[in-house]
Order: sequence, then structure tokens, then C-alpha cells
Amino acid sequence: MDTGEGLASKIFEYAKRIPAVKRRVDAEYAKMMGDLRAAAKPYGDEFPSCATLPEEGREHAEILAQMQAFREREASRWQDGYVSGAVYHGDPEHIALMEKAYSLHSQTNPLHSDLWPSITKYEAEVVSMTAKMLGADLAGDDAEVCGAISSGGTESILLAMKTYRDQARAERGVTRPNIVAPISAHAAFDKAARYFGIELRKIHTGPDFRADLRAMRRAVDRNTICLVGSAPCFPHGVIDPITELAELALAKGVGLHVDACLGGFVLPWAKQLGYDVPDFDFRVPGVTSMSADTHKYGYAAKGTSVVLYRSKALRRHQWFTLTDWPGGIYFSPTFAGSRSGGVSAACWAAMQSMGRKGYLDASKAIVETGQAIRRGIADIPQLKVLGDPLWVISFAASDPAALDIYRVSDAMSHRRWNLNGLHRPPCVHIAVTLRHTQEGVVERFLADLRESVAEVEASGASSSEGGMAPVYGLAGTIPARGAVSDLLELYLDALYEV
Ligand SMILES: Cc1ncc(COP(=O)(O)O)c(C=O)c1O
Repeated sequence: MDTGEGLASKIFEYAKRIPAVKRRVDAEYAKMMGDLRAAAKPYGDEFPSCATLPEEGREHAEILAQMQAFREREASRWQDGYVSGAVYHGDPEHIALMEKAYSLHSQTNPLHSDLWPSITKYEAEVVSMTAKMLGADLAGDDAEVCGAISSGGTESILLAMKTYRDQARAERGVTRPNIVAPISAHAAFDKAARYFGIELRKIHTGPDFRADLRAMRRAVDRNTICLVGSAPCFPHGVIDPITELAELALAKGVGLHVDACLGGFVLPWAKQLGYDVPDFDFRVPGVTSMSADTHKYGYAAKGTSVVLYRSKALRRHQWFTLTDWPGGIYFSPTFAGSRSGGVSAACWAAMQSMGRKGYLDASKAIVETGQAIRRGIADIPQLKVLGDPLWVISFAASDPAALDIYRVSDAMSHRRWNLNGLHRPPCVHIAVTLRHTQEGVVERFLADLRESVAEVEASGASSSEGGMAPVYGLAGTIPARGAVSDLLELYLDALYEV
């Protein structure tokens, strides 16, 4: 079936064969590439490129001086609380603990579990602590919640989707698998679908931006391997109706993956604090797997996440074993072969240093800050908050024809802010972290937002929201028509240019 997007892309490809159109598009792309490249490669001649190996090894002090310079230049925006998400804790003492833990274990590789049993111990404990936080002990007598450490949210999701695919093939003979997920589910589900030959059925969300149950139900068939819900979803920070999705999954005899990459380390504590958090974890019968990112609100350094399963039998489908390789009988739990044990050590150290009280206090501060930001945005008549979020607050223009939310976001960028641009519908979000709980950050955010709205209004610029789209992880927008993928591929090429 051709999607509207696919059709638009084909028309665009066809139009590009007309020389005049091609020239215009190429010129436009060249400009956009220039802008994108300038943002990603700002160092120029100041730090000359090292395209080939130095003839002689350089002095350690010289190498470290360059790195120190980069670190200082790149720290101030996130340190001062101008960045949505990205660095979730960021306190210098906490960072020092991560760095020390990493350096103590920098030479380890958990693929050699007999050489470094400490890493195996850390990883088992990180999984156990996370599972217990997410209702493992209350999951019922037949549950044996278990899991594995991955390199990040995307890998946890990829692993779970591969696991369901292999389970469905082994147990039900499914050869043309599909996943049913709300459109708000993270891009990692698309990635999993493309990598593993699974069809992803993306289902529209309701007016509250949560999964539409009836539409999800209609999309399930006998080739469905699992349903997906988010707690909360990345775009609008809202929690899908997990209990209802779990009932549907049980009724249809399929799994339900709850993506709590963003919320796994906040929601349990927010619930305990009395915020309106529906059940979302293994307490809900029918939730068969979860992803929860230690490297986000678990406050570990980047490079770890936890994927959890309700049963060991399900997790078995994740494992990789190979018995006939001349290199020896081989096995590994995740996609990587050799990997760093240092990041797992740092993750364990983060969790030990936070403790239950630390997570509770951090979640309190974050959700209170999120709610203050939400109230402040609601008080700006030209803006509206989308859905019913706790700490990932997305907002749009009250009248998109009168105000271009992307121009507002640009105006915020000129005031040092780095927010996440979103589309379908056009909006922007801020994922509140501990950085935003610092004194004065909320007031500064709201004052800058009010000023930015006024500035865009005063400029009289017409809204071009409809024709433009934000790019994940980059400031600004690009034209939202077919062949954007070409540009992104060029950009990825450019990232590896020295
Ligand atoms: C809900 C959700 N799922 C998955 C991911 C992917 O995580 P990562 O970027 O660590 O791969 C994210 C990242 O923001 C997320 O918000």
C-alpha cells in the first residue's frame, strides 16, 4: 500500500527530473546542507582535522588540552539548563562519580564474564533494581521478571522487537510479522521493523495524543507479534492507556511492550508522590516487556538501558548462540559482541548513589518544575499545551495560522534555548531534567518564551508551519516534502567528513 508520504516522495522524484526543478532543489539542498554542516562542524581551522594518523604519537597533555577545550565550550548550554532532555542530572559531583566508576573499569568487557565478574554482578543488579522498581515483585506468582542491559533505549526496543518476532515464529509459525503501535511510539520501533523485516502498523492517536484503543484493536490480526504503548511517549509526554492495551493484548494472545525509556525512572516515584499516574508496569497483567533507560532519568552516563521481560521463556528469544563457529562456541545476550563494562559500572554507581530517596526527590523536583512550566505556558494566550503531560511539556500555537511555532522555537534558540521541534501537529517540547530545577530556570524559560512569542508576532511573518518540519536533534526546520531522506543521508555522509 502506498502511503501519502510515499506518493508525495514519488511525485517529487519525478518533478526533479525536470532540469529547472532539479537546479532549484539542488541549490536549496546545498544551502540547507551548508547550514546543517556549519552547526555540526563548528571548529574549522582552530582545531585542524586529523584525517590521517599523526606520524609520531602526540603528548598526552596536548591531547587532553584539546579535549578540555571542547568540553568547556560544549558544556555551558546544558549545564545552565537551556537544553530539553539530553543531560538528565549533570551535577558536577554526580558526574565525577560516573567518571571515577568508568575509569576503574575502563578495561573491562562483559563478553569475558570470567575475567570481569564484577561487571556481570553490576549488570545483574542494575536489571534487578530496575525490575523491582517497575513492579516485578507485584507481577503475580507466575511472573519471573528478568532482563538485560543494552546500550540505550533504541537497542532495548530493537531487542524486544526481535524477541517477539522470534517468539512468534517459533511458537506460532508467524512468517509475516507485524507490530501494532500508536504513531507516537518512538522511531526505534520503525528502525526495528525495517531491520528485522517486520511490518509496523502505525495507528493514529486520539485527541488527547494517547493510543486509540479501538483503532489498535482493529489493526491486530493473527500475524501480530506485539502491541506497543509508551509511558510516556517522546513527542507529547503522555502515557498511553496501558491497562486497556494490556487487556487487548491478553484477549488477542499477543505481547505488550511498554516503552518506559523516558518514564521508567520517574513514573514510579511520581505515582508514589500522588500524581495522577495510571498503572503502566509489570503490575498490569498483559505487560510482557518494558524498556527503561538508565542513561536518561536513571541518571547514569550515556550508554546503558534496561530491557525487561515478564518471563525467562520470552527472554530466551533474545539470546544469541552459535555452536559451529571455528572461533569456538559463541553466545552473547545483546547485539554487541565486545562492549564496555565501564558504562555498566557507572550505571550501577549512579543507581547506588541515588537510592530510592534520591529518585523520589529528583522526580518530585522534575514533575513540580514540569507543572510550573505547563502552567506558565497555559497562561500565554497565543500558546496551548498539548495533552495532559507531567514533565515532558509540548506546546503549539493556539492559532497556527496566526503564529508559527517553529519561528517561536527559533527565537528561543537565539536566546540560547535548545528545545525539541515536533510535527504532526507542529509543536515544540521541553523535557524537564534536573538541570531545569535549578534556581531561576523556570522564570527565565517563561520570560524568554513570552518574549519570543511577542517577537514573532511583531515580525508579522506569516506562518509556514505547514510546509516545514523540524529535524530530531537539530535546531531549525527544513522543507517537509518528499526526498527529505536524501538530504538526511547527505547529512549523515557529511558527519563523517573530516
Ligand atoms: C519514549 C522513548 N523511547 C525510546 C527512546 C530512544 O532512546 P535512545 O535515544 O536512548 O536510543 C527515547 C529517546 O528519547 C524515548 O523518549
